[in-house]
Amino acid sequence: MRRQKHDDRYQKLIAHWDPLSPLVEGYRTLKLNIAFSTQDQMLQTILVTSPGASEGKTVTAANLSLMMAKDRRKTVLVDFDLRNPRIHFTFEMPNLYGVSSYMSGMCPFSDIVQDSGVPDLFIVTAGPIPHSPAELLGTPRLSELLEQLRNHFDVVVMDSPPLIVSDAMVLAREADGCVLVVDAGKTRRDPAVRAVEQLKTAGANLLGVVLNNKKLGKREGYYGYGYVE
Ligand SMILES: Nc1ncnc2c1ncn2[C@@H]1O[C@H](COP(=O)(O)OP(=O)(O)OP(=O)(O)O)[C@@H](O)[C@H]1O
Ligand SMILES: [Mg+2]
Repeated sequence: MRRQKHDDRYQKLIAHWDPLSPLVEGYRTLKLNIAFSTQDQMLQTILVTSPGASEGKTVTAANLSLMMAKDRRKTVLVDFDLRNPRIHFTFEMPNLYGVSSYMSGMCPFSDIVQDSGVPDLFIVTAGPIPHSPAELLGTPRLSELLEQLRNHFDVVVMDSPPLIVSDAMVLAREADGCVLVVDAGKTRRDPAVRAVEQLKTAGANLLGVVLNNKKLGKREGYYGYGYVE
């Protein structure tokens, strides 16, 4: 499948369509920082979240998973945003079965894993939107799903809803590490600081902050990465 530069989906999966783009450098740095953030133990499950909506979680999670897969590590990108699922649109995949189907006992784990077509990258979409995402994710079945993911893959990249909803905190506690995405042009300081505190209070392992702002670099975008003290 070919994509044109002006195509929205090209921009969203830039690490796949234009791996030599300088913009992909930001994702490479992110990947390396995650690798170096723990000296002794390899982080296996990485949650991508943000203080509010539309700050670039899905784009960051998708490109990070592409970068991980490039290293020939068997990677799965999981759409844990059961409220506003987007991974199936981004990768143009069916969303008949996914996280919600497994969580509600509708199907076995093997039914929810899809091949992305990119070597070493697999996708678990969100599945049908449930009535109560927070309740569904709050059941012990979440640990079973994460265990299955850990057993089958080297890296699990988790897309999630913003921290303003409780599901994200449930996921943040379960993940080995969390990456916080903020939009440089939009995210206000207070919510960002609150999000960091929220994660720390919950005992989440905050790895760092991704600065995303598609408006700064007018044509293509801008990515930055920095550690939170
Ligand atoms: N770095 C980027 N390059 C290109 N487009 C971007 C970038 N960051 C965000 N966008 C665009 O901005 C919109 C929001 O991005 P995205 O869906 O990743 O945010 P989100 O935090 O996952 O949102 P939500 O809270 O709704 O899940 C999307 O249409 C996406 O294509
Ligand atoms: Mg999203």
